[in-house]
Amino acid sequence: MGIIGVSRLELEQHKLNVASPYLIEQVWADYTPEQHAVWAELVTRRMSQLRESACREYVDGFELIGLRADRLPDLRAVSARLEPRTGWQSTPVSGFLPADAFFEMLAARMFPTTTWIRARESMEYTPEPDIFHDVFGHVPMHAHPVFADFLQHYGMICARLIHDPVELERMGRLFWFTVEFGLIRQAGEIKVYGSGLISSHGECSRVLAGGCEVREFDLEAIMDQEIDTGAMQPVLYAVESFEQIYEAMKLAEERLD
Ligand SMILES: [Fe+2]
Repeated sequence: MGIIGVSRLELEQHKLNVASPYLIEQVWADYTPEQHAVWAELVTRRMSQLRESACREYVDGFELIGLRADRLPDLRAVSARLEPRTGWQSTPVSGFLPADAFFEMLAARMFPTTTWIRARESMEYTPEPDIFHDVFGHVPMHAHPVFADFLQHYGMICARLIHDPVELERMGRLFWFTVEFGLIRQAGEIKVYGSGLISSHGECSRVLAGGCEVREFDLEAIMDQEIDTGAMQPVLYAVESFEQIYEAMKLAEERLD
């Protein structure tokens, strides 16, 4: 509870409309030693590859938001480091959100974050996102100001398109090929920044080994590109800088006016 008897959860719920029922508290003390050990194993294995093959903004973001290899993150501590930099929070939610609630949270710079962690038997893959995918995979990039602005604008635009399923599907493809599976060229090399690659050892290794075609970022081509969310990706897109995806958002926004 806060000093005037209002909990942080209640304060957060006040800021939101449709997403409010999905907000929960993360009870960090309830994680078991085994769950911390699963997190530690996942982070240690991924960081040994990502220190070389993730973009530098991701590696910097990992340090800036205070993630550690030896214990699961406390989302309040993550948000306390993130919010002064870019205004983003990592906000605990109960699971998958309907589209309108998801976009409302992005537009408010609150990243919907699950709090459960996969079991040891599913180290490589979970069909639904867990705290490893959501925090380790996504949140470090939110410490980068341009990416942070891009993601908020994405949420605002999609919230306005909520009754236009055709345009919303096209915007979903943009999310897929940037936030989830995005690549960037840095110092002549392909680096990963998409959370699906950051958090998956198998898929990331396949992409880095040349196992998929890499095309130059092209907003229209991406929005026309069909995706199979259950398969390994045959084609991915590389940006030259994060300004490129922010500019793409401004173009998408202008088309709405
Ligand atoms: Fe994701």
